[in-house]
Amino acid sequence: MISTLRQGYEARLASLAKDDGANPFASNPFAQGAAYVRGEIVPADEAMVPLFDLGFLRSDLTYDVPAVWDGRFFRLDDHLARLERSCAKLRLTPPLSTPRIREMLIELVRKTGIRDAYVDVIVTRGRMKTGVRDPRQAEAAIYAFVVPYIWIMPLAVQETGGSAIVTRDARRTPPGSMDPTVKNLQWGDLTRGFFEAFDRGASLPLLPDADGNVTEGCYNVFAVHDGVLTTPGRGVLEGVTRLTAVEIARAEGWSVSLTDVPVGSLYTADEIFLSSTAGGIMPITTLDGAPVGGGQVGPVTRRIWERYWDLHSDPKLSFAVDYG
Ligand SMILES: Cc1ncc(COP(=O)(O)O)c(C=O)c1O
Repeated sequence: MISTLRQGYEARLASLAKDDGANPFASNPFAQGAAYVRGEIVPADEAMVPLFDLGFLRSDLTYDVPAVWDGRFFRLDDHLARLERSCAKLRLTPPLSTPRIREMLIELVRKTGIRDAYVDVIVTRGRMKTGVRDPRQAEAAIYAFVVPYIWIMPLAVQETGGSAIVTRDARRTPPGSMDPTVKNLQWGDLTRGFFEAFDRGASLPLLPDADGNVTEGCYNVFAVHDGVLTTPGRGVLEGVTRLTAVEIARAEGWSVSLTDVPVGSLYTADEIFLSSTAGGIMPITTLDGAPVGGGQVGPVTRRIWERYWDLHSDPKLSFAVDYG
């Protein structure tokens, strides 16, 4: 299944890069990506953020990342609903309505011609007059960009599973400081976690909270014990991929519990996998240098992985972009 998905994906990438006159996107200035800034669409690498935007100066923003796979948006409305909730929690009023944001994102993808895309939409606090410290006086701004699909764990690694650590140094920012259900870019803890993972010979960090429960990285985490799945129920982003994995698992008849997951329980898991829009269902077969279960991608992870990618062509959860 991975090899079929990989072949299709690599063939689409190759056809985009081809410049044989038959490819309408070969001379497209947006072929490497497009961005929406101040109401205009520009090539992604020319996009600029104003210095005084509080998104840049204070990380005062929220964002969301839907994706397009094989020319189809996946669960776009779920991502937009989460963006709306995040904005409401931060008391941000985006300058565009949700239906307009939806149209704008589709238009961005269409312009690039990219068939497997990472789509990022950011709502910032925007600007205030210099010297003013009252966030109510700022005018929110919106930015977006579309670039080729990004893999937190490359497909080649997904075949055998990746390596993770539970961080000892970095701890997840507590919900009382930054509400983790608001998708945010206060990434100090996550970046620290990545450095720790690399220092310890692994690729991906899992951050614990102060109570010794695992939280997340820039992905959600699932553990499987005797066919029962657990994933942290609080202190994390309510991932759209997590939701899809939960729905698939329940449809398969497996029990799933959104609950506290003590770090210790990861070491007795038969299987561990991560979930994110940027990479999908990502098996972890090495944790803190030791094999997870039998050290191979397990049957539960494999089945959820397969169903996850199948669902990308299901019209109930996805729709085709009209590239014109
Ligand atoms: C902190 C964090 N947790 C979880 C996720 C997974 O969310 P989703 O499945 O909606 O992409 C992300 C995605 O970027 C994230 O940044």
